[in-house]
Amino acid sequence: MLVAALLSALCAATLAVADPRTAQIYIQPLATSTKPEPLAEISYDTLSLDATSVVAYEAPELPETADLVRIGLYDPKSSRWISGTTVASADNFSKGYSPHLLLTVDAQGEVLSAACKGVRVDAGQTRDFGPQAAVLVEGKGKQPDLNKPVVLSPEGRKVEEQEKTFLQKYWWMIAIAGFLALSGGGAEK
Ligand SMILES: *[C@@H]1O[C@H](CO)[C@@H](O)[C@H](O)[C@H]1NC(C)=O
Repeated sequence: MLVAALLSALCAATLAVADPRTAQIYIQPLATSTKPEPLAEISYDTLSLDATSVVAYEAPELPETADLVRIGLYDPKSSRWISGTTVASADNFSKGYSPHLLLTVDAQGEVLSAACKGVRVDAGQTRDFGPQAAVLVEGKGKQPDLNKPVVLSPEGRKVEEQEKTFLQKYWWMIAIAGFLALSGGGAEK
């Protein structure tokens, strides 16, 4: 019984690890009649925040009259914002700034709000030009990896860091299950 419970816990852990979600971030110039436009698509997994990546990014074409923009998750079908929105100055999207997107999600991975700010790019640091994304998990549970930069290659792709393998993470569970299987089997005879 115990072995079965441990094995199913092991399976649950495997399933929970692979739960990537995507979020569609939209941008809308304030004080205009322009509809929100897609800005970026972010893939994230609350159990593996290092794996957060920018799947797609479209530099917004903002009208010159727009000083402020609103950013959030938007559903074009119902024409409604479906997350909290944030307001940023349109200058954040000027040339020479690299967009840094931030998603705030709850413990279940639902997006609470989205934000974007432009970080001035140093001409010497070409590798930082691409858009970057981070996810902040609100509430209890796994602590978010604050200030951990997403590593991007010069083309703006995320450089995959070495993930711990399944065995490296869960060897101890397998060891316990194995031990119980051996000792349990012996006792029943
Ligand atoms: C980005 O937007 C925020 C909020 O409006 C503003 O405080 C900040 O100065 C802007 N940054 C740039 C680079 O324009």
